[in-house]
Amino acid sequence: MYWFSSLLPSLLLPNTLSIPTPDTQIIAPRVFIVNFFASEARAWHNLPQFDILAQNISIPGLSPLFPHIHCAHDGLICQAITGQGEINAASTISALVTSPRFDLRSTYFLLAGIAGVNPKLATVGSVTFARFAVQPGLQHEIDAREKPANFPSGYFGFGTTVPGQYPVWIDGTEVFEVNDALRHVAADLARSATLQDTQECKDLRATYAPAPIYAAGAAPPSIVLCDTLTSDTFWSGVLLAEAFENTTRVLTSRKASACSTQQEDNAVLGALLRGALANLVDFSRIIVMRSGSDFDRQPLGGSAADTLFAPMVAHDVSILNLRNAGLEVAKGIMAGWSATFERGIEPTNYIGDILGSLGGKPDFVPA
Ligand SMILES: *[C@@H]1O[C@H](CO)[C@@H](O)[C@H](O)[C@H]1NC(C)=O
Ligand SMILES: *[C@@H]1O[C@H](CO)[C@@H](O)[C@H](O)[C@H]1NC(C)=O
Repeated sequence: MYWFSSLLPSLLLPNTLSIPTPDTQIIAPRVFIVNFFASEARAWHNLPQFDILAQNISIPGLSPLFPHIHCAHDGLICQAITGQGEINAASTISALVTSPRFDLRSTYFLLAGIAGVNPKLATVGSVTFARFAVQPGLQHEIDAREKPANFPSGYFGFGTTVPGQYPVWIDGTEVFEVNDALRHVAADLARSATLQDTQECKDLRATYAPAPIYAAGAAPPSIVLCDTLTSDTFWSGVLLAEAFENTTRVLTSRKASACSTQQEDNAVLGALLRGALANLVDFSRIIVMRSGSDFDRQPLGGSAADTLFAPMVAHDVSILNLRNAGLEVAKGIMAGWSATFERGIEPTNYIGDILGSLGGKPDFVPA
């Protein structure tokens, strides 16, 4: 049906494609699940609701480890697996966005990955929905053993001379803000998922209970509205965590809460933003979902290394809860398509990047 939509611009409908065949038909998904590695992706395979392995589509520019986009028979739900890290994520999503095989202008992108979580705000097994994605990797670093004695950490903004200052050089991917109204709709849908838990997760959480500041980390898993940090480096420990909380405060005028830590979201959002600038995707249709597989810092009295080296006991539960929550979001978008989602959910907040590229003025940039 979407094939002969009158809205398709001629550039997407070259003459050679005017008679659709299975290999050349343009696919217009309603939901695009974006996973980052194999275990996150497998959780969406062999489900009773849809067979997302019904079509394996090869397009130029995908990861050699994950060379196909997967789609259900009807093409209404698809899955990309980018590979871990910012380069993989940006490259795969750029390839997808510019592929003539897909019409993504009405597609909802559901970023679905696991993450480290800040025990001040969330816990392992929880599923979080972000409004802001912040990239603390874009800054200077002096090793803590060589930093000036008055610096609280070795990290400080590009072009500045002391931690806590707004960066002088801006590259454009430092902060993205997505549709907050859609985020609330997605989180409400996700709340009908049953979140799983295990004794090992409960035992891990209990180690955070003695510190009142980590009450969220000690509480049972839930759906949480809180923001995300992207960094290729899988760091651990309270000092780096607090340094990047500070980076987040500086970059967003204290609007974002540094809650989950992962390796791809700003990269995906950067590629989608460029797609939106070319009218290939709708930036108001992005959901940034992350579940907690581990803590980003040690409990009171613990060590950063022990926390990082410990077995990731919440891995399986975080994958399952991510899938179960994401499935409710996907089902909700499908079921409410003609009533609500086809038209879209109007953002009431600023959406876009730190540069204001899509129009409007970023509400998180200091005056
Ligand atoms: C698609 O690839 C998966 C493996 O990634 C395989 O299990 C599935 O059968 C393939 N589907 C088709 C239709 O070939
Ligand atoms: C974070 O910022 C606060 C307030 O400016 C400061 O007191 C603290 O030392 C900083 N911590 C780190 C680790 O940068």
